[in-house]
Amino acid sequence: MGTVEGIRVSVASRWAKLIIKVSVKSKTSWQVRQLTDMALITNCTSQRIKEAASYLLAGNLVAFPTETVYGLGADACNLSAVERIYEVKGRPTNHPLIVHLSSIDNLDKWTKDIPDFAIKLAISFWPGPMTLVLPRTKLAQDFITGGQDNVGVRVPANTVALSLLNEFEAHGGYGIAAPSANRFGKVSPTSANDVHTELSEYLKPNDLILDGGSSKVGLESTIIDCTNNVPVILRPGAITAAMIYDLLGIQVKVNSKNDSSQIKAPGLLQSHYSPIAKVSLTGKPSTGDGFIALRRFPTPKGVIRLLSPVDNVEYARTLYQGLRLADIKKISKVFVIEPTGDGIAVAICDRLQRAAQKE
Ligand code: TXA
Ligand code: MG
Repeated sequence: MGTVEGIRVSVASRWAKLIIKVSVKSKTSWQVRQLTDMALITNCTSQRIKEAASYLLAGNLVAFPTETVYGLGADACNLSAVERIYEVKGRPTNHPLIVHLSSIDNLDKWTKDIPDFAIKLAISFWPGPMTLVLPRTKLAQDFITGGQDNVGVRVPANTVALSLLNEFEAHGGYGIAAPSANRFGKVSPTSANDVHTELSEYLKPNDLILDGGSSKVGLESTIIDCTNNVPVILRPGAITAAMIYDLLGIQVKVNSKNDSSQIKAPGLLQSHYSPIAKVSLTGKPSTGDGFIALRRFPTPKGVIRLLSPVDNVEYARTLYQGLRLADIKKISKVFVIEPTGDGIAVAICDRLQRAAQKE
């Protein structure tokens, strides 16, 4: 966790972006806030995290880092705060939210009838990039679950997120609802600046963006439906089918290719994770196209190389930055060579195929 003395304030609008570095302590942020009347990006000193927890408890939104992507957090028991998540994201309200917890010890506050395999998954992979969908208790209200009888819960593996959750729970909170901190259907943010670019015009002065650096995994958590006899992967991620097989001896189904009439998870919509640029996974790149591929693939003549990760782990970590860069460079088409293999490659291909669905 950063304990830098200064605070960093990012002031941006559609047409201008300016990052001001202020190297003094505490009160300055409030002065700057009054001056700019914009949502703040702030460093993650323990004092700031305490303040962020109190902001959440007061019904404000706090975007925070996790190891997967940045989340847009609200008190999961506060209807009006959760409604603001939907407003800020522009997301349909029947799409459920993941509740973030500080520890597995809180699982039975939110979920019940937890099968043994889910307990094993939680013990092995939490804190970590995995969300479990389980039958809900009364604490998980319809405004969190989209009216479904189950709820998605996750303990993130990020020191800032965990400190925030601990502070929040120590002062009476039960869990932080947090979707990825992007506009609906768009690319998830993997840095505080990405969150600012996505959402600053929709956030209010009392909302906050905690800057915890770049997300380590770079793709959203694996979602595992644990409401049946066997686990089913609803969204692939860094916790892979092979890892689950090693733990449970069960070959899990990956059921992310649903149709839009049965959407449990909007991340399962066929078109999602899309930059403005058109993403193309087939054919050949043309002059002026963006190009994303593992480093071992040479750059075709005339294209603009956006990313050259050495392996699939780096591919996952940087993919969203590469897609965002295409938009920053105003490139209209990005040609991508998908990675191959199991493991995290499955999640990368899943996101790329959805990104490529955009008309
Ligand atoms: O890595 C992540 O999971 C990030 C970080 C911030 O934790 N969060 C995230 O949330 O990706 P979101 O809302 O952008 O995507 C979560 C997906 C959505 O497609 C949502 O519909 C689905 O999980 N989901 C949430 N609760 C669910 C439930 N009870 N049943 C099925 N799907 C659920
Ligand atoms: Mg999302």
